Amino acid sequence: MFESLQARPTDAIMALMQLAKADNSPKKIDLGVGVYKTDDGATPIMEAVKLATELNYKEEITKSYVSTIGNAAFRETMLELIFGADYTPLKEGRIASAQATGGSGALRLGAELIWSAGDQASVWVPTPTWANHSPLIGSVGPEIKQYPYYNKTTLGVDFDDMLACLEQEAKRGDVVVIHGCCHNPTGADLSKEEWDRLAPFLRDHGLVPFVDLAYFGLGHGLEADTYGLRLVGTTCPETIMAASCSKNFALYKERVGLVAAITNSKEQAELVQGQFGALQRRLTSMPPDHGAALVAKILGDEKLRKVWSDELDTMRGRMQALRQQLSDALRVQGAENIADAVINQNGMFSMLPLSVEQVTKLREDHSIYMMPSGRMNIAGANGENIPHLATAILDVL
Ligand SMILES: Cc1ncc(COP(=O)(O)O)c(C=O)c1O
Repeated sequence: MFESLQARPTDAIMALMQLAKADNSPKKIDLGVGVYKTDDGATPIMEAVKLATELNYKEEITKSYVSTIGNAAFRETMLELIFGADYTPLKEGRIASAQATGGSGALRLGAELIWSAGDQASVWVPTPTWANHSPLIGSVGPEIKQYPYYNKTTLGVDFDDMLACLEQEAKRGDVVVIHGCCHNPTGADLSKEEWDRLAPFLRDHGLVPFVDLAYFGLGHGLEADTYGLRLVGTTCPETIMAASCSKNFALYKERVGLVAAITNSKEQAELVQGQFGALQRRLTSMPPDHGAALVAKILGDEKLRKVWSDELDTMRGRMQALRQQLSDALRVQGAENIADAVINQNGMFSMLPLSVEQVTKLREDHSIYMMPSGRMNIAGANGENIPHLATAILDVL
C-alpha cells in the first residue's frame, strides 16, 4: 500500500527553520517562523499561563473526556473577550461556538460547516494569504478563489481592486476569508474606514465573512483588533470566525482555538452548535483540554487577566518599537517606501518588496532568514541587530 505514496516536499517554513538553526554566525537574524520572540530570541511561556498552570494542577481532579465542543468556560470567556459582553448577537444567544485544535482546527471546522450547508459556496482568500488557508479549507470541498489584496509596489492594501473583484466575480452565498488583524504574510490591514465600507458591501452582495483572528491583541490592542469582526458580525446576517490562542497566549503547542458562527436566530445558533459538535466528533472527536482550561482560568480571574493583558501589551509594544527602529534606520538610508510600510503594517509580519534571489542573498551574505516571499517576522529582530538588518536589506536591494 505505502509503495504507491508520493514523496511530499518539506514544508517551506520547516525547511527555513532548519537552515536557520544550522547557522552559527553571530550576525544571524531569524525572521522566519511566525512565533513571538523576546530580545534574546526565546519564545517563553507567559507568566499568566504559568500561574494558571499552577492553579490548574492543584484544582484539576479528572482527565476524563470533556465534550465535542470543548471546554464551556473557555468558550464563554473567549466569546466575551472577542466580542465584548454587550455584543447584541451574544446577548441574544445567536452565536454558536466550539473549542477547536488551534486556529487551524477552528478554520477546519468553519470550512466543514460551510461544506455541510451544501450550497456549493466558493471560498475567497486574499492574495497573498497564510499558506495553509487553501489546503485547510479547500481539502474539505469548497473551491478556493483569490481576491487581490496586497500591492507589492505601494506595500498597502488594494482595497478598491478587492471590492471590484468580489463584486464582479463572487456569487451570492460565497464565503470571503478576511484576516481580522495583523495580516499574515503582509502585515497590511484594512483600515477602520475600509471595514466600514466592506461590511455593508458584503451584506449587500450576499457574501459571508469568515474572519481569521489568529493574532488579535498583537496589532493595536484587543478592542481595535476585533473592530472589523464585530462590525461584520452585526452588519451581515451570517458570519464565521476562527480565533487562535497560539500567539496572544503563547500557547502554540497546546493547540487552543475557537470557531464561532454568528447566526440569524437563537434556533439557528443551536442548530449550528450541534453541527460543530458532530463535525468535530467525526474529525478528532474532541479538542485537547489543557490549554483551553488555562485560557479559561486566565480570563475568568481578574488578577490573572490583568497579568496576561499587561504581558500582551508588552509584546505588542516591543514589536511596535522594533518597527519604529527599523523604519527609522531604513529612512536614514533612503528607503522611504519600505520605511513607511514597516511602520504602517501591524503585528508580527511585514512583506518586503524582495525577490526570491534577494531573500537568498540576505541569507547567504548576511545570515538573515525570512520567507522566500519577503515575509519577515519583526519579533525575530532586536534593538542591537536592527542596523545590520536595515543595511543588509538596502544592500540586496
Ligand atoms: C493567519 C493565520 N491563521 C491561522 C493560523 C493557525 O494558528 P494555529 O497555530 O493556532 O493553528 C495561523 C498560524 O500561523 C495564521 O497565521
